Order: sequence, then C-alpha cells, then structure tokens
Amino acid sequence: MSSVNWNARFSDIALNVKPSPIRALIKYTKTPGVISFAGGNPDPAVFPVSEFAEASAILTREGRDVLQYGSTDGYGPLKDYIAKWMAPRMGRETKPDEMIITTGSQEGMDLLTSVLVNNGDTIIVEGPTYPGALHAMRNRGARFLSVPCDKDGLCVDMLPSIIEQGRKDGHNIKLIYTIVNFQNPSGATLSEERRAKLLEIAEKYDLIIFEDDPYGHLRYNGEHLPTIFSMDKKNTGRVVYACSFSKILAPGTRVAWIVGEAELMQKLIMIKQGTNLCTSVVAQALVYEYCRLGYLDSFLPKIVAHYSKKRDAMGAGFKKYLPSNACYQTPEGGFFFWIQVPGIDSKALFMKAIEHGVAFVTGPSFYVDESGIDFIRTCFTFAQPEELEEGAKRLGAAIKAL
Ligand SMILES: Cc1ncc(COP(=O)(O)O)c(C=O)c1O
Repeated sequence: MSSVNWNARFSDIALNVKPSPIRALIKYTKTPGVISFAGGNPDPAVFPVSEFAEASAILTREGRDVLQYGSTDGYGPLKDYIAKWMAPRMGRETKPDEMIITTGSQEGMDLLTSVLVNNGDTIIVEGPTYPGALHAMRNRGARFLSVPCDKDGLCVDMLPSIIEQGRKDGHNIKLIYTIVNFQNPSGATLSEERRAKLLEIAEKYDLIIFEDDPYGHLRYNGEHLPTIFSMDKKNTGRVVYACSFSKILAPGTRVAWIVGEAELMQKLIMIKQGTNLCTSVVAQALVYEYCRLGYLDSFLPKIVAHYSKKRDAMGAGFKKYLPSNACYQTPEGGFFFWIQVPGIDSKALFMKAIEHGVAFVTGPSFYVDESGIDFIRTCFTFAQPEELEEGAKRLGAAIKAL
C-alpha cells in the first residue's frame, strides 16, 4: 500500500482539476443497448481505412526520415499541403513560419493559453462552449467571462459591456475564444456581420481572437462563410486560427494545425519543445500521403453527404417524438443538435434517458458557471443510421416520463 500522502504534494492545478464532464458520462453510454448521442465522435463507417493503409507506403519510401524526430513546427510537406489547401479559406497561402502542426487542436489551445495567459488572467468564452477548451485553459490557470450565444452565434453586441465591466472588476482579459462554424455544442454559425464586428471589437479593446474551426469543412447546406482570419485585411495579427484532421479524416491521427503571426508561433514552438518535442512524424507523414494521393478531397464530399443524411434522420426523429415545447435549430453542419426543453432538469433527464436506452450530454457541462440546466446536446454523427430515429423516440419517451 502506498505510504505517500499525494494530496499534500499535488500542485494547485492538480488539486483543482476535475474529470472532463463528457468523459465522466461515458461509462453510462457504454451500457449494453444504450444508443449514444453523447460523445462527439465521428462515424467509424466513414474512416477511409484502406486509403489510409495505402498511404503507409510512405514508410517504405521515406521511413528513415519519418521514423526520426521531426522539427517541432511540423512535417514540412504536410504544412505546405495544408497552406495550399486552406488558402481559399484563409484568404491567402499562409507562410511556413505562421503554422504549427499540433497533436490535435487540443494541444493547440493548450499551447496558445500557456503562451498568452498568466495564472488568473481571463479568457472570454461563449456560453455554451466546448468543455475541452475550458479544461485546457483552466489547466493553465485561466479564469473566464462568458458571453451568451443565439442562433447566429456569439452575441457580439454584448461584448463591449462585458469587457468593460470585466476590466472594472479586475479581469485581465487576454483572449476571445470562439468556435465559429457549427459550434460545439450549439450548432450555431457566427454570421458574417458578427465576424466583422468581432474583429472591430478585438481591435478596439486590444484583444486576440482564437478562432477554433474543427467543423468548418462539414457544411451540409448553405454557403461557407469567410474565416475571421481571412477578414483581417489589415493583417493586424489579432486572429489565431485552428483546424484539425479529427473530424474530416480521423481523430486517431491526432494531427491538427494552428496558424498565427510568426512571432507568436515561435513562442508556441518553444513551449511545445518542452511538451513533446514534435507531433508524431509517422502520423503526420501518413496524413500527408493520404492528402497527396488525393483522398482528402475525394473523401470529404462523401463524409459530408453521409453526415448530412444522419443530421436529417435525427431531425426527422426529433420532429416526430420530441414534445412541442422543445426548442432547437437544425444545424447547417457539424456534429450536434442543441435542444432546450424549458423547465427540465437535464441531469435528472440523463438518468431517465439511460433507463430508456439513450444517452446525451447535459447542458451545464458547456457553461463556465454550470448554467444551462434545461439544455441537452445530441451528436448525430456517431450513432448508426437505424439508431437515429429510435434514439429520438427513446429521448421523447424519457422526457415524457420525467
Ligand atoms: C470545438 C472543438 N475544438 C477542438 C476539439 C479538439 O479536437 P482535436 O481532436 O483536434 O484535438 C474539439 C473536439 O471535439 C472540438 O469540438
């Protein structure tokens, strides 16, 4: 038996860290027979397994390089590929010293926070927002101010008063974190007008915008909107952009990228040197070869068509089975429906839903102040097509039974 009193030794961060609220629910979602709308997982049915295996030929061809340590900013050919592929979205081809390959976007947000945020500094986040971001930022000692969202995303008009009041209250605000497209969890997309306003506000109050965009390529209807990064025509350098292969290829690759001014990226690189030296070169090379063979472009429309059908099936199920007071927008892309059932306690509903054989994520997981009790998030990408209507039926029955 251990004789070490760990609690007396843990750092303040370790003492205060909490398990991810979504991961804490996973054990229930694994109950046999439960249909999971909980985790934000892609559908393994659209993982391009044989094409990815074909890409492993790069190991035979260039194994002596790719099995070696790589440079911290990432595998050059992959960076070049991404810069060209992303140029229409970024408004230009970004330069190599403006991009770092990271081990998932999750690492990007950790690095950015560690470079810009001192213990006790404040980050402005959306309410609701992605709990993984809150987790990464909390690990680095961040505090938060939350801005409400509506169907067009972050309510930017409320930002100035929140910033001014926050400053009066002693907050040292460093960053605005926004998930611009098909937000996790709300599914909302920040309108173009609001993107422009957000830039103006960041400029006026001298803040950095962190534009997190892992779902942007997964649009099922409507037109793509310009990234905030590309709207920064004056090249102020205020916008840091992140994207990932997790949702458009496979999250097991753990390959993502972050783009920002070279001076800022240099600091991220130095921090990353102390974290993992570099993202797995093997993973980066496999992803690169997959892209070079043309599969990223040829698979994306298939993934979009597949998820679009799943979104429609979940939407049809909700229309049929959810009570008439349930409020939600059909998302134009991404992974999630965000549903408000006024007056319901989503934590109590979760347990009832498990009894009925369906799982989701409760609203408070997505708010810094754990509000949002009558909201739930359902993911439509992971469950199998035949489970989407049945899961909606079970959810409707659980709400009725509560
Ligand atoms: C909004 C958002 N950002 C970042 C991530 C992390 O993605 P990655 O797998 O690239 O670390 C996720 C994962 O679900 C997410 O929803």
